[in-house]
Amino acid sequence: QDIALGPYRHFMQKEIFEQPRALADTLQGVEGIVPELFDDHGVRSRAAWRVFAETDRVLILACGTSYYAGCVARYWLESIARVPTTVEIASEYRYRDSVPDARTLVVAISQSGETADTLAALRHAQSLGMGNTLAICNVATSALVRECELAYVTRAGVEIGVASTKAFTTQLAALFLLTLALAQAKGRLSAEREARHLRAMRHLPVALQAVLALEPAIIRWAEDFATKEHALFLGRGPHYPIALEGALKLKEISYIHAEGYPAGELKHGPLALVTNAMPVVTVAPHDALLEKLKSNMQEVRARGGVLYVLADADTHIGSDDGVHVIRMPEHYGPLSPILHVVPLQLLAYHTACARGTDVDKPRNLAKSVTVE
Ligand code: G6P
Repeated sequence: QDIALGPYRHFMQKEIFEQPRALADTLQGVEGIVPELFDDHGVRSRAAWRVFAETDRVLILACGTSYYAGCVARYWLESIARVPTTVEIASEYRYRDSVPDARTLVVAISQSGETADTLAALRHAQSLGMGNTLAICNVATSALVRECELAYVTRAGVEIGVASTKAFTTQLAALFLLTLALAQAKGRLSAEREARHLRAMRHLPVALQAVLALEPAIIRWAEDFATKEHALFLGRGPHYPIALEGALKLKEISYIHAEGYPAGELKHGPLALVTNAMPVVTVAPHDALLEKLKSNMQEVRARGGVLYVLADADTHIGSDDGVHVIRMPEHYGPLSPILHVVPLQLLAYHTACARGTDVDKPRNLAKSVTVE
């Protein structure tokens, strides 16, 4: 056994369990919400506060799991900072004939900072006259950080497992800070809301520990999943990209075909696939869409589908015939996606272990894709 693994079987498992520490490190030194958090400390001339004040739109560019982090951030940026936001897959954006807008802040998200498509998409945006650029990246010395005006370097530490875990949750923390900093620069963040959001962020490592303690229950789910060939992941709002990320994790490392869907779209297609051979994972936070989600769950049950529900403690969703519930802590407000993704990482991990795949180095995939 690799000494660096400590008590863990794989790097992916170790990295999942490192998330409380990675988040605490990423938020270290954040005393209050100020745009200067995104400065690169004088290396270049542009100050974040000036860039943020003149930002009318945000364009997020990324690939893979980093793209899903951007998709979650769109909900935050629009609802909290009130800044219109688009999120684009880098390999699509770079070849698309899009309409540039100089008052756009381009945010490139990448764990490695070396993904060829993300770098090319950034350069494409720059060539269209969008000079206000921000890297959210885990590697301070990467090309992405060098080429952007502003940067927020996450402190996840080295990530070895090909399937990204702790890089994703630290990207989300950085994107939430960005949301608050933009809101601040635009005069849209009251002192009371700033204090409330900061309190919630600082409490994240403790809240994550409670979620990691659910591992034994997730191992029982994984035993069921290991015998299946298809799975569906449902979510709504900012938990829809979490469903997409859960599906991506499962297919990457267990080779089970998985799809993430916004729960409201179920009736427009995937419901035709539902049988007891395809487990349906449902991300069920206690938010404004809970009642809608509950009726989507009934649609699945009515077709003989079997539900695996990650339900916040206060949702009153109980286990039943064909309904397996894992109870999450109480609803965590806008930061809830950071908690809900963790059981999905563990589900993919333990399902892959049960199937005996090469968890840290799944077939055909690379940690960092530096060619097109
Ligand atoms: C590869 C990795 C993924 C990662 C994606 C983007 O596909 O296997 O885990 O999400 O690249 O990588 P980046 O370093 O740009 O975040």
